[in-house]
Amino acid sequence: MREITATILENTPIAEGIFALTFATEEAIPVQAGQFAMIGLRGFPLRRPLAICKAEGERITVCYRLNGEGTRSLANEFRAREKLPVLLPLGNGFSLKDSQRRVAVVGGGVGIFPLIAAIRQYAADREIYAYMGFRDRESVCMEYEMGRGKRLLLATDDGSCGYHGTAVQAFMGEIDKVRPDVVLSCGPTPMLRALKVALTGKKIPAYVSLEERMGCGIGACLVCVCKKTDGQRARVCKDGPVFEINEVEL
Ligand SMILES: Cc1cc2nc3c(=O)[nH]c(=O)nc-3n(C[C@H](O)[C@H](O)[C@H](O)COP(=O)(O)OP(=O)(O)OC[C@H]3O[C@@H](n4cnc5c(N)ncnc54)[C@H](O)[C@@H]3O)c2cc1C
Ligand code: FES
Repeated sequence: MREITATILENTPIAEGIFALTFATEEAIPVQAGQFAMIGLRGFPLRRPLAICKAEGERITVCYRLNGEGTRSLANEFRAREKLPVLLPLGNGFSLKDSQRRVAVVGGGVGIFPLIAAIRQYAADREIYAYMGFRDRESVCMEYEMGRGKRLLLATDDGSCGYHGTAVQAFMGEIDKVRPDVVLSCGPTPMLRALKVALTGKKIPAYVSLEERMGCGIGACLVCVCKKTDGQRARVCKDGPVFEINEVEL
């Protein structure tokens, strides 16, 4: 983990209510897909966690949805060339075994961003089947990045683009044809829960990235604690954010 002063290169809208923030680091920082950054914002004591979507040498991109005051301030008050205190890379990230060649990624909402990092990292030597869910056509972004794998099926809640339904439904419609060795997922908790139910009895390993509210991002404050199915607790920032789907309560 590094604490750096990043320089903003770009901070622009890419879809309805979604912004991409690209910043430069002083030197290239190795990042595993699924790891995240804690972004410091003027006037806010707590940094905000955002998944690292792209890491290209000294250029890092995170994408964010306008949510509360912090993300609104980031969109409205931070411009190119300004400095930003950032902690990164944080958390464990997605890691695949050599034997896991056919990889399904199932994402919804802002959960698509860490999965784009996974597609970027693994598309060159694995077969990636991506199922990505959005509210409607206007919310769809980064289609090129999501489509780097073997298959991309978009799903929208209102049917205005792609499959009419959720990403989990779109995926389950093709699971027997795709026969994935592993599933990677990130999205709202009800989506992850639906995926867990749908995969019950299928004997396919699945990993989910959780997006708990965070304080410190480095394991010290316990704001992000989640319940594990064995009765223990885990810190999402330090022990996760990626967990085996049956390891955590959803
Ligand atoms: C590991 C991780 C990766 C994330 N990656 C992304 C990403 O790539 N893109 C993105 O847009 N967002 C991502 N998030 C969520 C993002 O951190 C929050 O949306 C952001 O911190 C909200 O800050 P805010 O100041 O705008 O809202 P606040 O004013 O802090 O909160 C506004 C509302 O959102 C709720 N909220 C705040 N944080 C979260 C959270 N983590 N999960 C659910 N609800 C929350 C609050 O309870 C409140 O109701 C990620 C979160 C985690 C933990
Ligand atoms: S956010 Fe502080 S321990 Fe996880």
